[in-house]
Amino acid sequence: MRINLLALFGLFLAWATYKIYTGFKTNIAKARKAGYPVLITPIYPLSPLWLTTRTFMLPLLTRLLSFLLPASFYATHIQPWLFVMTPDWEYHPSPRQHFAQVGSDTFLAASWNGLCCYTSDAGVIHQVMSRREAFPKDTRQYGILEIFGSNVVTTEGQVWRMHRKVTSASFNERNAGHTFREAVRQTGGMVGGWFAASSSSSSSSSSSSGSASHDGEQTKTITSLEHDTMRWALNIIGYVGFGLRLIWPHQQLPADVDPKLAKYGSLQPPAGYSMTFADSLATVLERILVLLLIPSAVLKRVPQGWGSWGAKLHEAWEAKVNYTKYMNAFLAEKMEDIRAGRKEKEGMNIMGQLVRSKYDPSSSEKKDGATKLEDSDIMGNAFIMTLAGHETTANVVHFTLLELAIHPEAQRRVQRDIDAIFGRDSDPETWDYEKNINALLASYIGAVINETLRLIPPVVVTPKRVADTDQWLQDESDGQKHKMPAMMPIMPVISAVQRNKRYWPALDKTKQEEDAGDLDEWLPDRWYLPSPGQRQQQSTDDEKAEEKQGQQEENYGGYQGLDTSPTLFWPVRGSFIPFSDGARSCLGRRIAMVEMVAAIAVLFQKYSVELAVDEWVGSDEEVQRMGVEERRRLYKRAQEKGKETVLQAKSVLTLKLTGGRYVPVRFVRRGAERFVGDEGLC
Ligand code: HEM
Ligand SMILES: *[C@@H]1O[C@H](CO)[C@@H](O)[C@H](O)[C@H]1NC(C)=O
Ligand SMILES: *[C@@H]1O[C@H](CO)[C@@H](O)[C@H](O)[C@H]1NC(C)=O
Repeated sequence: MRINLLALFGLFLAWATYKIYTGFKTNIAKARKAGYPVLITPIYPLSPLWLTTRTFMLPLLTRLLSFLLPASFYATHIQPWLFVMTPDWEYHPSPRQHFAQVGSDTFLAASWNGLCCYTSDAGVIHQVMSRREAFPKDTRQYGILEIFGSNVVTTEGQVWRMHRKVTSASFNERNAGHTFREAVRQTGGMVGGWFAASSSSSSSSSSSSGSASHDGEQTKTITSLEHDTMRWALNIIGYVGFGLRLIWPHQQLPADVDPKLAKYGSLQPPAGYSMTFADSLATVLERILVLLLIPSAVLKRVPQGWGSWGAKLHEAWEAKVNYTKYMNAFLAEKMEDIRAGRKEKEGMNIMGQLVRSKYDPSSSEKKDGATKLEDSDIMGNAFIMTLAGHETTANVVHFTLLELAIHPEAQRRVQRDIDAIFGRDSDPETWDYEKNINALLASYIGAVINETLRLIPPVVVTPKRVADTDQWLQDESDGQKHKMPAMMPIMPVISAVQRNKRYWPALDKTKQEEDAGDLDEWLPDRWYLPSPGQRQQQSTDDEKAEEKQGQQEENYGGYQGLDTSPTLFWPVRGSFIPFSDGARSCLGRRIAMVEMVAAIAVLFQKYSVELAVDEWVGSDEEVQRMGVEERRRLYKRAQEKGKETVLQAKSVLTLKLTGGRYVPVRFVRRGAERFVGDEGLC
C-alpha cells in the first residue's frame, strides 16, 4: 500500500515536471517569435489562482527563491521579473520604472501555464483598440462582473452588439443635460451635508476641530471624502439611469416622489428589507470578490459569531439577497409600467429601455429580431451600469479634490474660470447646460479632471487578447512587424502610457531628461502645452479621409462629438485612454465628464478645499496664532502626507484608497481660507 502511494506520488511528480517543462518550452518559444523582450516568470501572472492568492504567495515565493538560489543569479535572473507578479505594479510606485527596466514599451511574460503581453506604447495600444476583430476584448478576465448576469461590459461579438444596442440608446445629449442638473443638485446635497454636520456639533465639540468655525465659514475635518463621493455618484446614476430619487442623510425625500420608488431612496430599510437599497448595492460592490468566490449557500451559513470575518461574510450575503430583491421588484414594476403604457418622465431610464426591448411587442428593437434579452441580461446590465457609472466618477472626483487641496494654486485657477463662466454669486441650479458645457470642459476645470484621469486613471488596464489565429502587429516605434500568438492576452497599461515621455512633454523643461520627466506629478498646466501631434485645425488630407471612413463605419452609440478646444494640448492617439478607445470604449464618457466638471464647478464657486492639519496641531486657535512662515511649513507637512497617501491607491475593480486610508480635508468659504490666500499658499 505504502509503496503504491509512493509510486503514485512519484508518477505525479514526473508528470508535473514534464508538464511544467514542456509548458515552459512551448510558451517561451511562442513568446520569442513575437520579437519583443520576454520575461520568464515561475507562474503565469494572470492565472486566476495566482491573482487570488498572490498577496500571501508572493512573499513566500520570493523568500524561497532567494534562499535556494545564489545571490548573483537571483539578482540577474529573478529580481527583474518580480514586478510583474506584484499586485498594483501598474500604478505603484511609478509604472514607468518597470518598462524602463525591461527597456521596451511592449514586452511579454511567459511561464509554463500561460503567456501574456503588456504594453505602454501608444501606437500598439491604438492598433489593439481599433482592430476589434484581430484583438477582441479578453472576456475570460471579466467573469467577476457577471455576478448578476452577462452584460455590455463582459461580452464580445454578436452578443455584445445586442447588449450595446439596447443600452446605448440612453446615452444622448438630452440625458447628458439631465445628468448635469442632477450632478449640480447632488453636489449641493453633499456640501450641505458637510456644513450641516459641522454646525450641529460644533457647539458640543469643544476644542480641536470646528470650534473656530462660525456661521458655516468652514466644515469640520472631513475624513469620509471617498465615501461621500461614492454616494454622490450613486445618487446621480440612480436618478438619471433609473429614475430613483436618492438623497443625503440631512435631506427629506420630496413629497412628489412616486411612492413605489420611494423605497429605493429611503434612508431606513423599508418593510421586508433589512438594508437600504444604497447600502445593499454599496456592500455588494465592496464585497464582490467574496460573493464571487464563495457560493451563497455557504455564505448564508457562516455563523455571525466568527469575529469580524463572520460578520463581514454574513453581511455580504445579506446585501446580495436584499439587492436582488430590490432589483426583482424594480423589474416587475417596470414591466407593469410598460404593460399599462405608462411613460417615464425624464432621465435615461436604462431599466425601462432594457425591459421594453424584451417585452414590448411594439418596440423597434424587437422587430428586427436582433434582441433576445433574458431577465438575467437585464439584471446584469442594470448592475454593470450602476457599477461603471458609480465608482469611476466617484474616484476621479475624490482624487481631484485631494490634488486640488495639495495644489492650492490650481484651485485659484479653477475659481477664476468658474467666476468667468458662471459668476461668483449665481445659483448653480439655474446654470444652463447647453450654453455652458463646452466652456466648462475647455476650462481649467476640464484640465484638472483630465490631469487626474491621466495620473490616477480609475481603470488601470483594459484586457484584450489576440484572436483565435496569430495576428501581425506593425509597431511604429521599432519599425518591426510582430507575430502575436493566438489567444494571448494583451494588457494595455493605461497608467503607464499616460506617463510615457515619448508622448508627453515635461512641463518643467529641466526635468525633460529625467526618466519620468515630471509625469509622475499632478500638473494641470500641462494641458496648455503645444500639442506634439499638431492636430489643430489643419488636419491633413489623410486624416480627413480617415475621418470620412470612420463615419461610414458602424455607429456603436455613445457620444461621438469632441469635447475639446483646438488650443489645448491634444495627446497623441493611444496615449490618453482613461475611457479606453475604439468600439469598446466607455459608453458613459460624456456623462462622466459632465457630472465631474459640474461637481468641481459647484464646489469651488463658493468654497475652497484645504488639507486638515489636526495631526500636527492641537487646536484651530493654535493655527490662528501662527505666522505665515509657520503656516506654510505646517501645510507642507500635510501636502507631503497627502501625496504619499494618494500613492497608496490600489486597484480593486477601480483605483481607490483602500484599507481605511484617507486624506482629511476641510471645505472653507472662499475668502476664509486658513492656508491659502489669493496669491497662492499663504
Ligand atoms: C471617470 C469615469 C469613467 C471612466 C474612467 C470609465 C472608463 C471606462 C473604461 C476604461 C472602459 C473600458 C473597459 C474595458 O475595456 O474593460 C469603460 C467601459 C464602459 N463604461 Fe465607463 N468609465 C467611466 C464612467 C462611466 C459611466 C458614468 C458609465 C455609465 C453610466 C459608464 C459605462 C460604461 C459602459 C457601459 C462600458 C462598456 C462599453 C462596451 O464595452 O461596449 N462608464 N469605461
Ligand atoms: C435582507 O437580508 C436579511 C439577512 O439578514 C434577510 O433576513 C432579509 O430577509 C433580507 N431582505 C430581503 C428583502 O430579502
Ligand atoms: C481633456 O482631454 C480631452 C481628450 O484628449 C481633450 O480633447 C480635451 O481638450 C482636454 N481638456 C482640456 C481642458 O485640456
